[in-house]
Amino acid sequence: MDLEELPGVGPAIPEKLREAGLNSLEAIAVASPAELVATAEIGEATAAKIINSAREAADIGGFETGDKILERRKEVGKLTTGSKSLDDLLGYGIETQAIAESYGEFGSGKTQIAHQLAVNVQLPPEKGGLNGSAIVIDTENTFRPDRIKDMAEGAELDYEEVLKNIHVARAYNSNHQMLLVGKAGELAEELKNTEKTVRLMIIDSATAHFRSEYVGRGTLADRQQKINRHLHEALRFGDLNNAVVMITNQVMVRPDTFYGDPTRPIGGHIVGHTATFRLYLRKSKGEKRIARLVDSPNLPEAEAVFSVSLIGIRD
Ligand SMILES: Nc1ncnc2c1ncn2[C@@H]1O[C@H](COP(=O)(O)OP(=O)(O)O)[C@@H](O)[C@H]1O
Ligand SMILES: [Mg+2]
Repeated sequence: MDLEELPGVGPAIPEKLREAGLNSLEAIAVASPAELVATAEIGEATAAKIINSAREAADIGGFETGDKILERRKEVGKLTTGSKSLDDLLGYGIETQAIAESYGEFGSGKTQIAHQLAVNVQLPPEKGGLNGSAIVIDTENTFRPDRIKDMAEGAELDYEEVLKNIHVARAYNSNHQMLLVGKAGELAEELKNTEKTVRLMIIDSATAHFRSEYVGRGTLADRQQKINRHLHEALRFGDLNNAVVMITNQVMVRPDTFYGDPTRPIGGHIVGHTATFRLYLRKSKGEKRIARLVDSPNLPEAEAVFSVSLIGIRD
């Protein structure tokens, strides 16, 4: 079902909704009436009607029986990072059907890990891969095919093939970025019955555009709401495609911290609650990096050392 088919929606409204990042039934279903009123310039009653129809059509927010959930959880796959110590920290790799977040200062290895995953996802399961292809939403223009080449060769893969299985889109602003998650869903659908189904989505960085566009106190709630919806759409992508979702997040330094580490991830709690696995990355000597697993629902808080080398992420 298209947005155009929702009852009470005229021809101009879908366009406005899409521009605001409300580009799928799911996104509208979880939006608030006030948000629709503001973005589509419609009355409160119409907004409520549209949201209800979207909820019915998208079939979300309902109950599921435990056996169905168990069935889906059985399919959970693990993707290797290339470093055994990092994999062990995460419970033998990064899980599908969940969001993994890495945050850390500039140069801490967030983008390098993202590149490595885009290569590793193409490996067969016996080598820690998911035999799939990757989608990269690149917001900082840091995707580098030549790094993929290095890492593919490090993994003994044909780099030309590897590059063909990485679908990259540059996101120019936060709305565009949100739109691209919808596009990623469409692409994954197209590739569903091919040899390389999409098993990984990377959003690098998930928060940078939001941070630069929503400045000032008054915009904070709006920003958090948008990030929240964005991440829930990303999580849904992970569920639907049994895919790993890896997002990166910048940090800021809190000047009011008097003891302990003053760096904090952007987006705070919203990102924290949506991400199932959070990795805090720090630089160490030379190629070495330290990853700390923070707030995991079922794993102990612990640290691992890995390195970023020419051929990629290793112990
Ligand atoms: N070809 C390479 N060989 C070895 N190390 C590299 C190479 N390319 C990048 N790196 C390392 O990765 C770092 C950048 O990490 P990156 O993941 O881009 O950081 P960020 O966390 O800001 O995304 C560089 O400072 C360097 O230490
Ligand atoms: Mg980066």
